[in-house]
Amino acid sequence: MDYQGILNEIKVNVDCTKLPGEVASYIPELAKISPDKFGMHLYSVIGEEFCFGESQERFSIQSISKVLSLSLALLYEGENVWKRVGVEPSGDPFNSLVQLEYENGIPRNPLINSGALVICDILVSHLENPKAEYLQFVRKIAQNDQIDFDEKVAESEKAEGHHNRAMINLIKAYGNIKNDVEEVLDFYFYTCSVQMSCKELARTFVLYANHGCLIETGEQILSVKRTKRINALMQTCGFYDEAGEFSFRVGLPGKSGVGGGIVAVYPNMYSVAVWSPKLNEKGNSTAGMLALELLTNITGSSIF
Ligand code: DON
Repeated sequence: MDYQGILNEIKVNVDCTKLPGEVASYIPELAKISPDKFGMHLYSVIGEEFCFGESQERFSIQSISKVLSLSLALLYEGENVWKRVGVEPSGDPFNSLVQLEYENGIPRNPLINSGALVICDILVSHLENPKAEYLQFVRKIAQNDQIDFDEKVAESEKAEGHHNRAMINLIKAYGNIKNDVEEVLDFYFYTCSVQMSCKELARTFVLYANHGCLIETGEQILSVKRTKRINALMQTCGFYDEAGEFSFRVGLPGKSGVGGGIVAVYPNMYSVAVWSPKLNEKGNSTAGMLALELLTNITGSSIF
């Protein structure tokens, strides 16, 4: 498959400057990013790379980090994770509180904010130094020691994070947060602030296209069964109340973040990351979704 030719075609056909959408501004530091950034990077399971645009410029991966947090929590807590968080799509926005009250503080899934807060609570219980150990895990699967938090973004969200603060207190009231809420929130905001480029993100997520094995060494980081389940959750829950739309248009498991990044995984084949900061009203990158839709349409292949 001529992936570079296909990416070139996508670049010509997706003019992010003309597409609608707004850069996220509820995290003040993110509002400073130029709306017209656009990059895409595809990483195959045999280590081939194809790209265009600003694919090597770092951005805030935000909710994409929820997949990495879940992966680490599963390594420590195993199947017990599912006693504290569900596996059903929410059909609600990423930061919604409404289901929590009906469902007694058990978040619908780990890829919405409420679920990720519970996952971070699990990690705070297990890790001696959560931020350092989280970073160590991410660097390992990224095979890159330069991956880091963006402190400015984390602190900017912490200062304005009233919605997440309300949410974690509600979950705590139901007994599903065991640690101090400010400690868990601080850790959560830092996990969201991890910076990666499309190249680094695609490289990191090739693990999920490769049955949980690092492509260079073959080291099994996540079991085949867990990798299957994480991909299933990305498919059904990775885009909140737009998960159906993403499946319908793109047909790959994926995860978005309010930094404008989207990563998608084609098991046995490749992972692909795209970045364009203008978001639609559901919080997903407008140009990113279109670029991925073109990718699976032009290649004529998706998991469906
Ligand atoms: O907690 C938040 O609101 C952000 N740190 C992450 C949200 C996010 O990325 C939703 N994605 N589309």
